Amino acid sequence: MLEQFKQEVDEGLSNYPKSLPSKYFYDKKGDSLFVKIMHLPEYYLTRAELEIFTKQSQNMIDALAVNQSTYFELIELGAGDGLKTKQLLKALNEQNYNFSFTPIDISQNSLNIIEKNIKKDIKNISINKKQGDYFKVLSSLKDNHNPKVLLFLGSNIGNMTDEVATDFIYKLGSNLSPNDKLILGVDLIKSASIVMPAYNDKHGVTKEFNLNLLDRINNELGADFNIDNFSHKPEYQEKDGIAKSFLVSDTEQNVYIDKIKKTFYFKKGEKIETEISRKYNRKILQGIIANTDFQIIKQLNDSNNYFSNYILERF
Ligand code: AVJ
Repeated sequence: MLEQFKQEVDEGLSNYPKSLPSKYFYDKKGDSLFVKIMHLPEYYLTRAELEIFTKQSQNMIDALAVNQSTYFELIELGAGDGLKTKQLLKALNEQNYNFSFTPIDISQNSLNIIEKNIKKDIKNISINKKQGDYFKVLSSLKDNHNPKVLLFLGSNIGNMTDEVATDFIYKLGSNLSPNDKLILGVDLIKSASIVMPAYNDKHGVTKEFNLNLLDRINNELGADFNIDNFSHKPEYQEKDGIAKSFLVSDTEQNVYIDKIKKTFYFKKGEKIETEISRKYNRKILQGIIANTDFQIIKQLNDSNNYFSNYILERF
């Protein structure tokens, strides 16, 4: 764990341009800042996807084409708070579908929270929490041959480059059987006037979220980043469809990282890329899944057309 963190920080800060992997946002502080972000008025993504799950759960169930009497597994990659998924689970439960819910997450704590949240509202649901790596867990479930519906929500795929996303979706498919489904939540390409505030909220929560990455490196790798010498800078152009977040060095400075035993030099104005948040349209998604064993069978949008849940079928 720590070895990999050290290696990826060293590599990212030695590269030009500099970068750091966004997965390291999520320590305890980062988790709670992300929960705050989800409730910001500017962060439309969560509300838009919740609207789809609330108002269109029946459309979703119809598209899944699951048999009322045949047992199937609904498997979520990343536990989240379960609020969106709960809407779908409720609808399935009310209609007496024969299914279980399997949330997969690295964090046992997140799994415990999601289980509590769901059981509170759906008493008789069967939940099989699985702690660990998505692909390890999926491969352990593959041979039971139960029909499967995977959920990968929140535009989490957007943190991947398109090449990495293709590889990821291909690997999901290799752990599934024909006719299994993948519900993929993606943020849609739209004007900068809507996207930019989502990554630059007026209360500075996203700024704190981004800067927390440097704090984490200070705490876990013994670095001497002076957080006050860095600014949060998001960028987005509708023609690219890719929001990026950077940390900008406000002065010329050196930062020493004790656990790496190295000094890193920053020019004034030099940027560290900390996150990409890709936005999609159908053509882009088609391109990404072209080399996988999935096809699009349904697209559900929220009423503003901000966000989509695509239902993909494994062939
Ligand atoms: C959880 C990856 C979808 O990229 O929009 C929120 C993370 N970063 N604000 C996103 C995030 C800055 C978020 N995802």
